[in-house]
Amino acid sequence: MKKHPDIEEILLTENQIKRKVGEIARQLNRDYKNKKPIIVSVLKGSVVFLCDLIRKLEFDHIIDFISVSSYANATESSGVVRLLMDLRESIVGRDVLIVEDIVDTGLTLAYLKRNLLTRKPKSLKICVLLDKKECRKQFIKVDYVGFTIPNKFCVGYGLDYRQLYRNLPYIGILKPQVYRRK
Ligand code: PRP
Repeated sequence: MKKHPDIEEILLTENQIKRKVGEIARQLNRDYKNKKPIIVSVLKGSVVFLCDLIRKLEFDHIIDFISVSSYANATESSGVVRLLMDLRESIVGRDVLIVEDIVDTGLTLAYLKRNLLTRKPKSLKICVLLDKKECRKQFIKVDYVGFTIPNKFCVGYGLDYRQLYRNLPYIGILKPQVYRRK
């Protein structure tokens, strides 16, 4: 696919992502063999990753969705996490795996973990494709990580800027003039 004109540089290509998703799936296939977890996808960013990941999973599982928000159309986290839409399924006594596109400040995942643990799951693990380690404000243990990435404004493969660019099959760095002009 041709580079979108708003993208300065491709950070992770479609192929690199594909290979990494395969590696993560292999780890999950080993760890969740003979279990039937509920996979919690955090809307909206994680859906692209989720769709590719679950097609590589060889164990039975249920998918469910939760929606939280910490960014209000900005390039910086507001620090406030809100629950926008809850799960449909009960997770009491179930193995739960949260699937996220990115961990940045850690506030979203820390909030989600606290929230879901009150529902008494049997286990709770976290799988993220991207880790912006240097931006962490709150410690959060992540069990499965795809790539550690620098603190650049990344979009694509589910990640947005003002709801755009989620469809890009690669992860790219947005041109600064794009988020300055809007
Ligand atoms: C993004 C991303 C994570 C969160 C990570 O979501 O999908 O959920 O930010 O940031 P944090 O570690 O600093 O909390 P966003 O709120 O932008 O919503 P979206 O998934 O709908 O794009």
